[in-house]
Amino acid sequence: MSIHKTRLAIFCSGTGSNFQAIFHALKNKQLNAEIVLCLSNRAQCLAMDFARLNGIETVHLTEKQFDSLDDFAAAMLECIRKQSIDIIVLAGYMRKVPDDVVAAFKDRIINIHPALLPKFGGEGMYGIHVHSAVLRAGETESGATVHLVNEEYDKGKILMQRKVAVLPDDTPEILAARVLECEHTLFPDALEKFLAGHQS
Ligand code: GAR
Repeated sequence: MSIHKTRLAIFCSGTGSNFQAIFHALKNKQLNAEIVLCLSNRAQCLAMDFARLNGIETVHLTEKQFDSLDDFAAAMLECIRKQSIDIIVLAGYMRKVPDDVVAAFKDRIINIHPALLPKFGGEGMYGIHVHSAVLRAGETESGATVHLVNEEYDKGKILMQRKVAVLPDDTPEILAARVLECEHTLFPDALEKFLAGHQS
């Protein structure tokens, strides 16, 4: 068992309901870890507000602040290293993590995706677009996937999945809400299992 609590960085872009689900799982001692950094490509979003309210350091970082992707990746790595981050958790982060960061944190970046990968993943497949595609394809079930992040969009090793039904009258928004509710238990459960492997 490791002596120090695993230090998590949460990356997010919007509402942050998965961030909150993880935060509460930590409070309830389901997870033996602490969230020490919230990094977002948006300065103002509910996820960043939640972090500030709870005394978690926030960093607003976007490609637009830098001349090159290399500089952006270097700045991201500096933030992560300064806080001695062990694991990066992508909880509704709508940007691609730079390859340099993925390489530096091999098998230590976890993402949640709102569909049953390997279906409905890849570039452009995020948020509501995923649920629209699932409905267009006439699927009878969808769900969420927690997976490791590698250099390819949504292609890393799958850690855990959970299914939900697709119902005849679903709109993308209705399906999104059903999947999101499932994410809120799936993500802490998958993290718990992943951390147990890391900490043993
Ligand atoms: C969640 O459904 C998450 O799976 C999805 O965005 C939503 C964020 O909600 N992520 C992606 O589409 C990433 N490709 P939240 O901000 O309330 O956690």
